[in-house]
Amino acid sequence: MSLKIAVMPGDGIGIEIVAEAVKILNHYKNSGRLDVEMNEAPVGGAGYDAAGKPLPDETLELAKSSDAILFGAIGGPEYDGLARELRPERGLLALRSELELFANLRPAILYPQLAEASSLKPEVVAGLDIMIVRELTGGIYFGEPRGIETDASGERKGFNTLVYKESEIDRISRVAFNIAMKRGKRLCSVDKANVLEVSELWREVVTKNASDYPEVEISHMYVDNAAMQLVKWPKQFDVLVTTNMFGDILSDAAAMLTGSIGMLPSASLDADSKGMYEPIHGSAPDIAGKGVANPLATVLSVAMMLRYSLNHVDLADEIDAAVGKVLDKGFRTADIMAQGCKEVGTVEMGEAVLAEL
Ligand code: IPM
Ligand code: MG
Repeated sequence: MSLKIAVMPGDGIGIEIVAEAVKILNHYKNSGRLDVEMNEAPVGGAGYDAAGKPLPDETLELAKSSDAILFGAIGGPEYDGLARELRPERGLLALRSELELFANLRPAILYPQLAEASSLKPEVVAGLDIMIVRELTGGIYFGEPRGIETDASGERKGFNTLVYKESEIDRISRVAFNIAMKRGKRLCSVDKANVLEVSELWREVVTKNASDYPEVEISHMYVDNAAMQLVKWPKQFDVLVTTNMFGDILSDAAAMLTGSIGMLPSASLDADSKGMYEPIHGSAPDIAGKGVANPLATVLSVAMMLRYSLNHVDLADEIDAAVGKVLDKGFRTADIMAQGCKEVGTVEMGEAVLAEL
């Protein structure tokens, strides 16, 4: 039976970069190495344009009936004025929540070819290979109550709730321990247990689970210190596990250590390793439609999809290696351009990867 992939380009540069990633899947399909069926659906602003909401019912149905989802990016200035429930971001958050994609894997890997692109000194980031495991369907992003209300005196107040159940902490920490087992066997759990009760519980559950993974060296760090350590000496980390919002912030910082957010893929997995795969970067309205966006994060997201959801580690390794070769040859999109390299656009970069496969 064919594997079913839902393709959701979304908005802005999402459309251009996903097109390049789809070419790679088609390449494997046409050469008989991958039995896939791809179906496209609108999400985010495109969902709003097509069906009046950021996650159209048909898009959700397609996502539910697929083995994996390839997601581009969402958002654009033309949607900024919409009511909160209609904003493009809501489509992404609803997909994560409806599909219970609670485990977000965000690697921050520095390609040796790009060491100069980092804003940090090359010796601080050379060889960097961190995995951030971010909880994705709980915490303050989804906690109730939430809202903006006017109190008796007429003053407005905004509020959100940071809440985690033991079971939510348990499952995300186990995902992180298992990933650590397959890597450097070091896990750092990031919280704010010096201030927040929910973090106290987080730390307690992670500590309890650590006894099931005696080979993994566990440590705990407050989030402010973790932010500092990430820019001070990032190579001290192997795997980090943290809450939804802390992970959102730390993963952007970690991404930038590598010089270009345009290089980093991500996976969002449910309990059965069904997943949604997307570049970490956004829809970049400023360069949308110009053909200059870097498609490599999306290409690498396809590799992650093959590795984590579709059980084709061989093809995933091939794509990862092809990206390395393309960088070796000096091909660079504008975001990672350096002296002596050849500047290429989105399509040329996609074709350069295809040529290596
Ligand atoms: C991310 C993004 C999203 C998030 C936004 C677009 C809702 O920043 O995936 O990191 O906050 O999770
Ligand atoms: Mg973010």
